[in-house]
Amino acid sequence: MTNSELSESTVVITGGSSGIGAALVDFYLQRSARVFSLDLNPSGSRAIEIDCDVRDANSVSSAMAKVRNDSARIDVLIANAGVVPSWQSTENIDLEDFTRVIEINLIGVAATLKYAAPAMRSPGGSIVITGSINSWKGDPNLASYVASKHGVLGLIKSAALDLGPKGIRVNGVGPGPVATDALRNRILSRNENDHDKADVYFERLAQGTALKRIATVEEVIHAIDFLASPLSSGITGELINVDGGVL
Ligand SMILES: NC(=O)c1ccc[n+]([C@@H]2O[C@H](COP(=O)([O-])OP(=O)(O)OC[C@H]3O[C@@H](n4cnc5c(N)ncnc54)[C@H](O)[C@@H]3O)[C@@H](O)[C@H]2O)c1
Repeated sequence: MTNSELSESTVVITGGSSGIGAALVDFYLQRSARVFSLDLNPSGSRAIEIDCDVRDANSVSSAMAKVRNDSARIDVLIANAGVVPSWQSTENIDLEDFTRVIEINLIGVAATLKYAAPAMRSPGGSIVITGSINSWKGDPNLASYVASKHGVLGLIKSAALDLGPKGIRVNGVGPGPVATDALRNRILSRNENDHDKADVYFERLAQGTALKRIATVEEVIHAIDFLASPLSSGITGELINVDGGVL
């Protein structure tokens, strides 16, 4: 999509207040799109910020109604809100926390799709969901997260079939570790807040990739932008990893 096309576009991003979502908000604002950020917490960005808890269907429905009051149609939806739980081994799963993670990362995405789909530009709308390399592979101590992100892959494949006849595409990105503040804080807490240990951990993650480095937030955004734009007009139902080639 060229910049002039984007200036007439409405882009809706969930989880737009921090990390990858906040960087997406900046990216699309710089390209003069009309950007809506739906999040639990406002961030004070120049986007139109709407309070929204993706765990709560009424909240998602009312947020999408507000978007529709303002914009006749959504050109790009990026369902990005998500949480990563603290480590729990399978025999120590906290089932309440497991439910919370599924409610946000999986049912929250389903609710986002449900209430945004009728407002998507048809034909030509594009939906991109932030999955994870954990949409494909397991990791120890992260069963709820891995299960939620595998579920997201199922949503992408199924929603692509449902919405394809209307000319709406549904794809996802699968970031590997990306050095957002959220990830840095998680890795620090997993390493007793010892910065040297956390650096060693990051280096190990880097060495576990083909490129010998972890992917950047910008690289994740470029993949999302590709999937959101007509450059990928023949692609739907796919999830592209952006992980530096995790081995
Ligand atoms: N950072 C990484 O390494 C990485 C890797 C793979 C996948 N991801 C995925 O990328 C997405 C963004 O992650 P991030 O690292 O930028 O995290 P982050 O914590 O910086 O941002 C997540 C955002 O989602 C919002 N959010 C959380 N619960 C919500 C809810 N119930 N309703 C509405 N908004 C809610 C938060 O307020 C926050 O602004 C997530 O789906 C995550 O699983 C991140």
